[in-house]
Amino acid sequence: MIGEEVRAAHEQLVRRGTGVGASSAAASDATSRQRVGSDAHAALDTWESRSCSLFPYLEVVAHFQAVGRSQADPALVRRLSSVPADRQDAFLAAWLPMTCDQETGGYVTYAGLHPHLLAAGADQGEDADTTAHGSGRDRLRSRLDELTVAVLGDLLRTEAATAGLDSPAPAVRTRLRATARLLVLSGDLAPRHRLDPSVTTDVAAALTRTQDPLDSLAEASERAAKTVLELVSPSVAQTVFRSLLPVTRLHDEIMFIRSIQVFEALYEQIGLAVAESRDALLEEHLDKAVDVLAAVTDRMTVLPALFRLLGTMPVKAFAVIRGYTSGRSAVQSRSYRRIEAACAPLPPSGVVDAPWTGPTLQEAWSDVRTRPGADLLTEQLRRLDTLWRGMKRSHWGITLRIIGEVPGTGGTAGASYLKTTSETPLFPALTGKGER
Ligand code: HEM
Repeated sequence: MIGEEVRAAHEQLVRRGTGVGASSAAASDATSRQRVGSDAHAALDTWESRSCSLFPYLEVVAHFQAVGRSQADPALVRRLSSVPADRQDAFLAAWLPMTCDQETGGYVTYAGLHPHLLAAGADQGEDADTTAHGSGRDRLRSRLDELTVAVLGDLLRTEAATAGLDSPAPAVRTRLRATARLLVLSGDLAPRHRLDPSVTTDVAAALTRTQDPLDSLAEASERAAKTVLELVSPSVAQTVFRSLLPVTRLHDEIMFIRSIQVFEALYEQIGLAVAESRDALLEEHLDKAVDVLAAVTDRMTVLPALFRLLGTMPVKAFAVIRGYTSGRSAVQSRSYRRIEAACAPLPPSGVVDAPWTGPTLQEAWSDVRTRPGADLLTEQLRRLDTLWRGMKRSHWGITLRIIGEVPGTGGTAGASYLKTTSETPLFPALTGKGER
């Protein structure tokens, strides 16, 4: 149940205009047919009468983006929740739950994670790290990187479209710069879908001209984002378009959901690397285990830039998003929890189960730790632990600034919970603490 105060604060922000701290362009530019859902109903009629075989994602997404998932037309939501199984393909089956989870929804449907994993090639859109081996892992890595770059491109397009103003507020400038910077760094974050440098040359140059009006960065960003979305495969571009069903009409929620999607792809990559290096150690391939960990920790060097983007979240906007997302929290992230479970034995968190079968990476390491060359491996484990805990400390700091000491939407104590977890090592045996 969303409180009156939260609703009123939402309306107030939406009335402020379009962009950071205000309405999304999709909500403010929507036609009345998109708002009431009549376009979506009409398109569904056609699809149901079988005169069109492609599910009308465009019209349905336009309605959800116009009014927010929480205000979607109840009749449309009912229709979507009763789409018969014989009319569902695997993607539609993974996507539909996003549209009708208003009462029961959690984190996964909120952030469109199943459609993303399915598009990346994980079985059933779940548990990428356990379902893939060998070349399957490599394919997954490449597709996840393609998704990440597409998500960043789409976010840059959204931010640039609302930033091309004559004298933008400092928050608009900071947001656009942080988003543009991430696309420039995408080769480090997502190296298996490295963009040709020419795609981001103008953006990188505009970022160095800090005194220029924002228009030049906005224009370069729009061009780069358009190219990125043309370069990715159509199925990835479609998935990225369909996986954005905000619960509010706020522009900032788009950044929030896109950030979650980028972090989740990174968690998947870390999970794949931990599983692969563990397997390599079990097969006595110490060098390979080192290389796999080195590659993933290189990706994690982009984390500060990701937190700079997240840090542009206005406090008032997040208070509203929080009010509309009670019960949905990244504390429910399986990919995140599985990383910790795969690194070392973990006591039950009480939040979400993350079963891990077989030896953990720490156990595999401890069997080889005295062998020649194991120093390099130990160094990589330390680097992973340092970056992982650094990430958790940044998350704690941002949380403290944005919501203060109030409880989280996942039912924990909030910032104090995050502080405690940021002190827990990934590999307790490395710090001489034994078990967690
Ligand atoms: C303004 C931004 C954010 C704030 C204020 C925030 C706040 C919180 C809070 C209070 C918790 C504690 C759990 C709860 O009760 O909900 C939490 C957990 C968590 N959040 Fe965030 N969060 C933000 C953004 C993100 C993003 C973009 C991600 C990316 C996926 C994320 C990932 C996580 C994870 C993985 C946990 C579980 C941590 C653990 O159990 O160790 N957060 N967050």
